[in-house]
Amino acid sequence: MKTFQIGEQKDLASLTLTERPAPKPGPGEALVTMRAASLNHRDLNILRSKYGGPKPATRIPLSDGAGDVIAVGAGVTNVKVGDRVSGVHFTPWVDGAFSPAFFGGDLGVTIDGWLTEQAIIPAQALVEIPKELTYIDAASMPVAAGTAWHAIQTFGHVQAGETVLVLGTGGVSIFGLQIARMSGARVAITSSSDDKLALCKKMGADILVNYKTNPDWEKAVLAATDGRGADVVVETGGGTLAKSIACTAPNGRIGLIGALSAPGDTPPALGALLGKNITIKGITSGHRRAFADVMRAFATNGIKPVIDKTFPLAEAPAAFSYLDGGSHIGKVMITA
Ligand SMILES: NC(=O)c1ccc[n+]([C@@H]2O[C@H](COP(=O)([O-])OP(=O)(O)OC[C@H]3O[C@@H](n4cnc5c(N)ncnc54)[C@H](OP(=O)(O)O)[C@@H]3O)[C@@H](O)[C@H]2O)c1
Repeated sequence: MKTFQIGEQKDLASLTLTERPAPKPGPGEALVTMRAASLNHRDLNILRSKYGGPKPATRIPLSDGAGDVIAVGAGVTNVKVGDRVSGVHFTPWVDGAFSPAFFGGDLGVTIDGWLTEQAIIPAQALVEIPKELTYIDAASMPVAAGTAWHAIQTFGHVQAGETVLVLGTGGVSIFGLQIARMSGARVAITSSSDDKLALCKKMGADILVNYKTNPDWEKAVLAATDGRGADVVVETGGGTLAKSIACTAPNGRIGLIGALSAPGDTPPALGALLGKNITIKGITSGHRRAFADVMRAFATNGIKPVIDKTFPLAEAPAAFSYLDGGSHIGKVMITA
């Protein structure tokens, strides 16, 4: 079968296509024919050795995928042959509190992931895909929608009528926009592109700020909320934290998620954290129950994930380069 591996992790060109024999599931594992997989920002970092220590060159990349169960190992009871499934990348994290031990079962990082015709996945990570969602829909969601859900719902406890701020128009942020809208919240979004902001407006975003032409974007967010700021912030920038704090409302919640921007020049305004009673939480993706919840929310509301472009499996290297180029909005996918 066709399988990609991460190779020497010197850059995106390290991604290598190999032929391997079809695997057999061991105890607790499922063998899944991959129908769709999605790329996340961290998949770029892994190939560039910027995500933890070096990994075995044979590691199969990608945290997110969906497909059909074609075999199960001993002791598997939660899925069966023929099920349409997707799953979470922290495979031991079924529910409850986060544990650093979950990094030991991280698809595409510490164990093999989805960029292969047939993937071995620990069965406890898998959930059945709701009938309303396609393989592509489901495969787009585990990391990006799961993380946005964690920030906005599980941690953020967003209320209808509140304002949610998302930064940029990548996978996490566009899911954040959609989750905030289906929760009855007002959405503020930033982008380096006016064209992308125009698309976000069509998706229901209310406050649109170009962070390139308007470096003081936090002031624009404050102005658009009558000086109050956003109640929930999906902080994918990292170096943008000081500005996010500046435009967070009293009692606001900031989910600290990513590191897209350079480290901020200005240290976070700790006085504002105290003065506004803001809560900041570090967020690492989410558990299986949250992933099932977010899939169900999209299915029952008839909302589709925003898919920018889909590549066939053999063209996976082009998909990585495309994501790296940053022209996408929403998700970049692979199908087999
Ligand atoms: N903690 C977790 O569990 C977790 C989970 C998922 C992702 N992440 C992290 O979250 C971040 C986003 O991931 P992703 O997969 O959504 O990435 P992505 O799809 O590659 O999105 C990249 C987009 O971010 C925007 N961006 C870049 N620099 C920015 C800046 N300085 N300010 C605001 N927006 C900026 C750009 O949007 P425009 O083109 O519109 O400007 C860019 O297209 C990454 O750092 C990723 O590693 C963390």
